[in-house]
Formats: sequence, structure tokens, C-alpha cells
Amino acid sequence: METIVISIGGSIITSEDIDPLFLKKLSKLLVDLTREHRIFLVVGGGNIARKYIELGRKIGLDEKNLDKIGIASTRFNAQFLTMILDKSNKDEIPEKIDDAIELSKKHDIIVMGGTTPGHSTDMVGAELAEKTKADLFIIATNVDGIYDKDPRHYKNVKKFKEIKIDDLIKIVGGTDWKKAGSNVIVDGPACEIIRRSKIKTYVINGKNIDALETLIREHKLIDGTEIKI
Ligand code: UTP
Repeated sequence: METIVISIGGSIITSEDIDPLFLKKLSKLLVDLTREHRIFLVVGGGNIARKYIELGRKIGLDEKNLDKIGIASTRFNAQFLTMILDKSNKDEIPEKIDDAIELSKKHDIIVMGGTTPGHSTDMVGAELAEKTKADLFIIATNVDGIYDKDPRHYKNVKKFKEIKIDDLIKIVGGTDWKKAGSNVIVDGPACEIIRRSKIKTYVINGKNIDALETLIREHKLIDGTEIKI
């Protein structure tokens, strides 16, 4: 039985153009996969987090409180996902990595959000992957992989089929946490864990169900970026 950790961007679950059919397909795939895989899903805060963080920052809340608001949004998204995922930890969203691992003795799919201030859910996913010695860590986000520049803001961008972790760390501006709601492809603290524990990590578009399925079932990347250690 392989262990798979997926860090799924909140925007994949809650963006304005989200298709309910997509969520049904995703949930069916994840449930099917539990025959051969133990699955941990760490959900981001998406636009709910960003809206509250933006508002709170304008009002003058400090960074720690902004992170806490972000964490609450991730847990809200996690709770929603458990409602549409059979075999998951309904109504019991773990707040710590160890609690998630403990809960995985009772459920085939564990869904959680953030843990503590100072990083994004990418780092929670990386920590879970490290502690569970996961076979794969997948960052399922709203772009098709890692680019040299943010493809949502620049033209003439180059997408990497693979990238060395040290080059990725340069692109994201180091391994420090920047600020609440910061929007980098993989957050710095997560990169640090991926580097130290040599987790097999891929970045793909979370809306590409075929890419997700092929990666998990065959360890084959049909679209996205492999992070090389
Ligand atoms: P996300 O993990 O959603 O950030 O957490 P993100 O990557 O910007 O969002 P997605 O991937 O598009 O969904 C939202 C915010 O919540 C706080 C941080 O401020 C983060 O930016 N947070 C989250 C924490 O402080 N700790 C956590 O463990 C998780």
C-alpha cells in the first residue's frame, strides 16, 4: 500500500469557475485509489483565505493573526471536502500532523488544512510526506507546473519538466516564510523540507484529473514538473 500526500490548492476547490462535476470526478478518483493507496489531502485556503487576509491587512491585523485567519479558511475547505469524500475523516479535521497520522488508522483518506502560523499548507503537506515516508508528494495547484516566471502575470514564460530544488528555492526567493497569503508556487519552508528529506515531489495542475491519476497509479508525469533533489 503506497502513501500519497497531496497538497491541493484552495483555488481548485473554491474558485468562481469551479465545476461541481469536477469535484465529483476528483472525489470518485480518490475513493477508487484507496484500494491501493493511503491518501492524505492537505487543502489550501484559496480565495476565501486571500479575501480575509487582504481585508485584515488593510485593517491593520498583525501577520500572526492574518496567518490564523488563513488557517481557519483552510480548515473550512477541508471540512467541505470531507463531506464529498467517502472513506474520509468526516467532521474530525486534524489540527496537527501527528493527529492526522493517528486518524489514518481509522480512515482511508485523511483531509486536513493548516497547522500553525508561519507557512502555507504546502509545508504541512511536505511535513506529512516526510513523517509518513510517503511514496509521492503531489502539489496540485492552479497552474500546469513550475515556470521561470508566474505565467498568470508574464508572457514568454518557460515551463520546467523538471527542476532542481536549489533552483526552485532561488525562484521562490529563499526558504523563509514571506507573509500571510503569499502566493508562490511552492512556499520556501516547504522547499526546505523537500530538500532535507528527499521526498519525491511533483507539481501539477489540480484540475487535470488524468495527470493526477497517471502520476499516482503509474508514477508517470504526463503534464507538470518534477522536483529533483
Ligand atoms: P494556503 O496554504 O492556502 O496558502 O494558506 P496558499 O498556498 O497561498 O493558497 P492556495 O494554495 O492557493 O490555496 C493560506 C494562508 O493561511 C496561512 C498562511 O498565511 C497562508 O498564506 N497558513 C496556512 C498558515 O499560517 N499555516 C498553515 O499551516 C497553513
